[in-house]
Amino acid sequence: MKRILTGVKPTWNGMHIWNYLGMYKPFVEKAQGNEAFLFLPDYHSLTSVHDWEVLKHNKHRLAAELFALMPHDIPFYVFEQSKIKHINNMTWILSSITPYSLMLRAHSFKDSQNKNSDINMAVFNYPILMAADIIGYDVDMVPVGKDQKQHLEFARDIAESFNKTYKTEFFKLPEAYIDDNLATIPGIDGRKMSKSYNNFIGIFDDEKVLKKQIMSIVTDDTPLEDPKNPETCNVFALMKFFAPEQRLISISNNYKAWGYGYGHAKLELLDILLTYFSEARKKYDSYMKDYSLIEKELVIGNKKAWEIHDKKYQKLKKIVGL
Ligand code: TRP
Repeated sequence: MKRILTGVKPTWNGMHIWNYLGMYKPFVEKAQGNEAFLFLPDYHSLTSVHDWEVLKHNKHRLAAELFALMPHDIPFYVFEQSKIKHINNMTWILSSITPYSLMLRAHSFKDSQNKNSDINMAVFNYPILMAADIIGYDVDMVPVGKDQKQHLEFARDIAESFNKTYKTEFFKLPEAYIDDNLATIPGIDGRKMSKSYNNFIGIFDDEKVLKKQIMSIVTDDTPLEDPKNPETCNVFALMKFFAPEQRLISISNNYKAWGYGYGHAKLELLDILLTYFSEARKKYDSYMKDYSLIEKELVIGNKKAWEIHDKKYQKLKKIVGL
């Protein structure tokens, strides 16, 4: 049995289909038969969310979403980063062996620096906290989206740097699991779907909001009556991830026939998504009405994760001489 872990930041208001396909679905696949943890890196969100109500709301909503999507036959632990008492102490110890030259190579920091001149130190230190999130639990595998590839390499480099400095095998080197297909998911503007382009489609938003997002997907200007090529269409590209095989075949035939417009295709995509997520959306509504159900589960996850982390931290303190 392996230990699998991943995190999703409560920085944004809700999960969208890119999060689902890139992180959640691969995570659930790997969770099967293993010991799995999905956590909310709320300290990481502090790098950009500076309003307590927003952070609280995002955490609340995201936790409800993570539980709503959890398949009942593949249970896993959900926990909050800020409930892990020694996570920042561990980060400090790791900072003390992390080469500055390594941190200067971080793409995420360079990107933020290019976008924003008023950048804070936590953005720079971000990968070290993320390393503690992973190696602090002796994690074997971390399913993440492609954008997190370098962060995973850093976690390995930091673990190795510690082991070398203290002549030990104390930290396990985690393996990243990245689904390469994901690069091809188009956003509503046809560019790659990304939070920072604001071109994504939600999962738990009201039907009206989803409809608006889907209706604004960019398509070419082939007239309604004319046959169309499904393989070059952004709407069809999204359907492929969620529609059952038979339905896809008949949609593809409709594209190639006369009189099937992009408006039809978009309404069909809306229906496909609502069907695919229908159970999760119902569960989500009930969790949002009664948050005590979530809180109970979080207490279990927080305790389990804290126990593992605390053991590791106590040993770590001894190794470094504290
Ligand atoms: N950096 C990740 C993101 O932006 C979130 C994250 C924090 C994470 N710690 C982690 C992901 C540990 C996996 C493992 O999505």
